[in-house]
Amino acid sequence: MSARAALITGGTSGIGKATAEVLHSRGYRVAVTGQRPESVARAREELPEDVLVLRADARSLADTDRVVSEVSERFGTLTTLFLNAGISRPMALDACDEATFDDVFAVNTKGQFFTLVKTLPLLSDGASIIVTAGIGATRALPGNSVTAGSRGALLTMIPTLALELAPRRIRVNAVSPGFTDTPMMRTTPGMGSDEVAAMLAAMAAKNPFGRVGMPEDIAETVAFLASDGAAYITGQEIVVSGGAGLAV
Ligand SMILES: NC(=O)c1ccc[n+]([C@@H]2O[C@H](COP(=O)([O-])OP(=O)(O)OC[C@H]3O[C@@H](n4cnc5c(N)ncnc54)[C@H](OP(=O)(O)O)[C@@H]3O)[C@@H](O)[C@H]2O)c1
Repeated sequence: MSARAALITGGTSGIGKATAEVLHSRGYRVAVTGQRPESVARAREELPEDVLVLRADARSLADTDRVVSEVSERFGTLTTLFLNAGISRPMALDACDEATFDDVFAVNTKGQFFTLVKTLPLLSDGASIIVTAGIGATRALPGNSVTAGSRGALLTMIPTLALELAPRRIRVNAVSPGFTDTPMMRTTPGMGSDEVAAMLAAMAAKNPFGRVGMPEDIAETVAFLASDGAAYITGQEIVVSGGAGLAV
C-alpha cells in the first residue's frame, strides 16, 4: 500500500472532490471533509469507497480535533494537506452585516489556519500543504471585498508559514483558481440557472483561453504541488485561470 496520504478539507464537492479523485487515482489514501449532510452523503456515494468522508464544520475547532483524530487513526501520518473548504458571499458593500463578515472569515481564514496548526503533528517531514486562495484575493471584483479579504489574509500567511515549516521540509503553497465551474458557481445566491449559465458564458468569452476553469484544472495543479516534482517549491502562489487577470 502506498504511504502517501492526503486530507482535503471541502473535498465533498467541486475542486476538492476532483482533487480527491485525482490523488486517489495516483495511489494516495484520501480523506475528505464537508459540512452539509447531503453533500457528505453524495460524496460517500460518488467517491471511491475507500475514501474516508468525514462531516466536519471548518468553523468548529472541536470538529477539526475529531478530523485529526480520525485521520490519525486511519492513516497514521499525512503527506498532503489540501486546505480547500471555503465559501463565497458576493454582495454590495452596504449589504454586508456583521454575521456574514464573521462567517466568511470563520470558514475561509480561521478554519483553514487552525486545521493547518492542528494537523502539523500528523504531517510527515517533507509533506506538502496546499491552500486554496483565489484570483479575487489580489484582483478587483466589485462585490467581492469580504471574500477577497478572507482569502488575502490566508495568502499573506503563505511565505511566513513556508519559512516556519522549512526546517521540517514541509512545503506551503497556494493555488488560486480563476472562475471555475463548480457547484459554488452554479448556486450563486440570487441567480437562477439561466442567469448562471449566461454569467459563465460571459466569463468564458472574456477569458484568454475562451473558457472558464474546470475543477480538474485546479486538481492537477494541486497534485503537482503535492508531488516530488514540486519538492523545491515553497511559499508560492500558482494562479490557475487560463490567463484571466493578466490584462491591465
Ligand atoms: N469556483 C470558483 O470559481 C472559485 C474561485 C476562487 C476560489 N474558490 C475557492 O475554491 C474552494 C472550493 O470551491 P468550489 O468552487 O469547489 O466550491 P464547492 O463546490 O461549493 O465546494 C466547497 C467545499 O467546501 C466545503 N465547505 C463549505 N463550507 C464549509 C464549512 N463550514 N466546513 C467544512 N466544509 C465546508 C463544502 O462542503 P458542503 O458542500 O458540505 O458545504 C464543499 O465541499 C473554495 O474555498 C472556494 O472559495 C473557488
